[in-house]
Amino acid sequence: MLKAHLDQTHEGASRKTAEIEKTVSHLTGSGFLKTGDRVLDLGCGPGLYSSRLFMEGMQVTGIDISRRSIDYARTQAEKEQHDIDYVCTDFFNIEYEETFDVVLQVYGEICTFSEEKSDLLLNLIHRSLNDEGIFIFEVSTRVLRMREGLKNRWYVSEGGFWRPGRHLVLEEGFDYPENETWLNQYIVTDEDGTVRTYRLWLHDYSLETISLALEQSGFEVEQVWNSLLGEPYRKGGDWIAIAARKV
Ligand SMILES: C[S@@+](CC[C@H](N)C(=O)[O-])C[C@H]1O[C@@H](n2cnc3c(N)ncnc32)[C@H](O)[C@@H]1O
Repeated sequence: MLKAHLDQTHEGASRKTAEIEKTVSHLTGSGFLKTGDRVLDLGCGPGLYSSRLFMEGMQVTGIDISRRSIDYARTQAEKEQHDIDYVCTDFFNIEYEETFDVVLQVYGEICTFSEEKSDLLLNLIHRSLNDEGIFIFEVSTRVLRMREGLKNRWYVSEGGFWRPGRHLVLEEGFDYPENETWLNQYIVTDEDGTVRTYRLWLHDYSLETISLALEQSGFEVEQVWNSLLGEPYRKGGDWIAIAARKV
């Protein structure tokens, strides 16, 4: 996973450097992120955004469940002498109260949870924000899912995302349109015959459904874009990026 975050040839785990820089420049340029802000980067991965936010003068906390990503982020911060608080934990364990001016969650992580869990996450984020704090994030839409399509394929890999060594992958996609939910299932077999199944659930949103979920958790949508790069919102995009204010 760490390798995938840092790989500039695809955007499987993180976006490419140019996009990350444009995102930070859009969010600072539009005034949603400001020098001196206390920012929580939720699902920070190896710290690709956190480090840039620190350079822009913010006080940054980065949280991720991946030990490898957090270790990498800490090592980089030490090298660059960046005073960033990286914490390795499940973001469902956060207990911050009125601590941050901004919570940032990049690359649609909220879409990977059930409705109950994403509501719980929204409540934890709400509690962690100061009065009138901002939650900036993005969700994927059904348009992206339809464009990517259901995958039904198999392949042998000499080493890659799932395993460092040779393995077989059986990939199958399932669509549940009534719940705007997709399942990508990967059955991975190692050379010694060990079989493991991985299921990646993806819940897509429309502006209406995400606005309702935010409203129910005490947020008001303040700004909507087609991506965190700041393209103005139009219906029919792959992504919806939102700045929602705690009310
Ligand atoms: C798609 S990646 C995006 C990483 C980063 N925001 C970026 O865009 O470079 C999602 C990140 O969320 C983290 N993550 C997923 N579920 C998590 C959880 N329950 N608690 C903490 N981190 C989690 C993953 O480890 C991963 O680093």
